[in-house]
Amino acid sequence: MTLRPMLAALPAYVPGRTVPGAIKLASNETPYPPLPSVLARIGEAAADVNRYPDNASVALTEALAAKYGVDVERVRVGCGSVSLCTQLVQAVADADEEVVYAWRSFEAYPIIAAVSGASSIQVPLTDGHVHDLTAMAERITGKTRLIFVCNPNNPTGTAVGRDELVRFLRAVPPDVVVALDEAYREFVTDPDVPDGLTLLTEFPNLVVLRTFSKAYGLAGLRVGYAIAGDPAVAAALRQTQVPFAVTSIAQAAALASLEPEAEKELLERVAAIAGERERVLGALRELGYDVPLSQANFVWLPLGDATTGWAAGCEERKVIVRAFAGSGVRVTIGTPEENARLLSAARELA
Ligand SMILES: Cc1ncc(COP(=O)(O)O)c(C=O)c1O
Repeated sequence: MTLRPMLAALPAYVPGRTVPGAIKLASNETPYPPLPSVLARIGEAAADVNRYPDNASVALTEALAAKYGVDVERVRVGCGSVSLCTQLVQAVADADEEVVYAWRSFEAYPIIAAVSGASSIQVPLTDGHVHDLTAMAERITGKTRLIFVCNPNNPTGTAVGRDELVRFLRAVPPDVVVALDEAYREFVTDPDVPDGLTLLTEFPNLVVLRTFSKAYGLAGLRVGYAIAGDPAVAAALRQTQVPFAVTSIAQAAALASLEPEAEKELLERVAAIAGERERVLGALRELGYDVPLSQANFVWLPLGDATTGWAAGCEERKVIVRAFAGSGVRVTIGTPEENARLLSAARELA
């Protein structure tokens, strides 16, 4: 048996741990259960699982196109936005071609690039834990095929503003695709952080990635979407999709979540989480922690060498956080009660 040698060097994707009796603030999930209306539609869809799903997710694609006022040809639904990231790399990069992204950023990017055979060009974040878009633009070569910009960035929560992003997009050659990963877009409260969809007309090489996993609370069902400036990119995502990757249950749940009453309630939860984020961030800073401003549903503690010990201390106190050894800890914002548990652990560990 011969496996690809590259696998030996591949970093493992580390999912947030679930520990019985502990609260889980490790995976950027919403702490709230699915809405009853969404659960009901999941139940209805479950009755038909002897059939394959709609391979093109037509109803959901149309609903998204209508919601955002874009042509259906520019929308593509995927099995989570992480799957769309993979499809995108497979669509644009041949072996040896380059995928540029900030580091540290979403830990799936290096894995996706390596498995596809593309080379990763990792550009360090600034000292303020923000994308260094100037440095990223400088790393573009004739081999660059794709650039991921994660805004807000996972795991730091930091976001780039409109002017900076537009300046960057103007510097990118039009044949290089820019994937603006907006998995946490709904949690953004800073008006200076642009909605990527407003940039698609000016930049046809831009594709915006979003998900139902976070704000819409459907992480377990795996459904996300891409909206591309150029329909050719959406068509390429269709070509690189695993057949039937988005289940009928996921499609039904996402559609139910877009219904006005449901969406209103879900976005109220998002607003509550964004409010809690500000409270937790302020309290952590008062305890003396250095925490960059976050626009997502998590905060980042750049603890360096103290990271692993601090996360273990949280676990002893039945709070599971996500440690990136030697770098920092990412803490997901939970319910007010969960956040109080986190803050009490943080106080003891300060
Ligand atoms: C930046 C970023 N992009 C994409 C994803 C993937 O989300 P999905 O559940 O839609 O695959 C995540 C999930 O953690 C993320 O943090």
